[in-house]
Amino acid sequence: MAVKTPDNDKLIKEIEELKEKRGAVIMAHYYQAPEIQDIADHIGDSLALARIAATLDNPVIVMCGVHFMAETAKILCPDKIVLEPDSNAGCSLADSCPPEEFRKFVEAHPGYTVVSYVNTTAGVKALTDVVVTSGNAKQIVDTFPKDEKIIFGPDKNLGTYINNMTGRSMLLWNGGCHVHEQFSLDKILELKKQYPEAKILVHPECKKPLQLIADKVGSTAVLLKYACESDAGTFIVVTESGILHEMQKKCPGKHFIPAPPEEAGCACNECGYMKLNTLEKLRDCLRDMKPQIEVDEEVAAKARKPIERMLELSAK
Ligand code: 13P
Ligand code: SF4
Repeated sequence: MAVKTPDNDKLIKEIEELKEKRGAVIMAHYYQAPEIQDIADHIGDSLALARIAATLDNPVIVMCGVHFMAETAKILCPDKIVLEPDSNAGCSLADSCPPEEFRKFVEAHPGYTVVSYVNTTAGVKALTDVVVTSGNAKQIVDTFPKDEKIIFGPDKNLGTYINNMTGRSMLLWNGGCHVHEQFSLDKILELKKQYPEAKILVHPECKKPLQLIADKVGSTAVLLKYACESDAGTFIVVTESGILHEMQKKCPGKHFIPAPPEEAGCACNECGYMKLNTLEKLRDCLRDMKPQIEVDEEVAAKARKPIERMLELSAK
């Protein structure tokens, strides 16, 4: 739960006043610190954040998440000011796919359709036919004929999951997320022995053995929905631990157990990039109107098409 302190109260008041003055909207991903999720106008998974950004009237969007999320909002809303509280909030998965390397990979496979996860730079999206998130990847890949030749990047675990779910053999880029890759099967199985009634919720960025023992595999929003609708009362949550805040808020009577980090005492089940954002930095970015996201116009124009295609293909 968010920690309420006199300092936080003062910061929250300042943020609310600055938000009003700037006509800004605050968006936050489920992995943000609880106090940031609580002050946001919209919280969601990557898909929801992109969908909402595309429909906003506000002249200023503050994206409390990581850089690719703010970049996606800017690509969809080029005339708006998009702020990120900390410009160092990157993503190891996006970093595992440098655009120039990906270009070579794509050029080496002519005739392939390129499907990219939203956790990528604008440069990679500009080389892509359709963007997906973990919330809509299966639905979008299913729209292609069974014999379509597809490159999927950069997350090999999500790609493996979609291959299994759709019976395809998409060509996978060998990228991964340092948070999701560290979860250990043995530790989750030990936990399951202690809580045999618990349902296991797994993000598809985790390795295949974890996907195979899951009761539900899905994006943060999909896991949240499953937990709320399930008759079960206990859940082992195998993704970044920030999601537990909203799970606990939405389902106060249920018991959510974060998957333990690989080494006792380390905070490896937290995304250090996501946690760079703080209330202070949120206040400062609204006060100073920086850091602002800029995307090269030519790259943005190319990257917009596959993002818009994703939004069309996965419209509710
Ligand atoms: P979601 O789209 O499931 O929220 O995932 C984003 C992410 O960065 C997972 O590590
Ligand atoms: Fe990127 Fe992993 Fe952090 Fe998600 S959890 S933002 S994939 S580094």
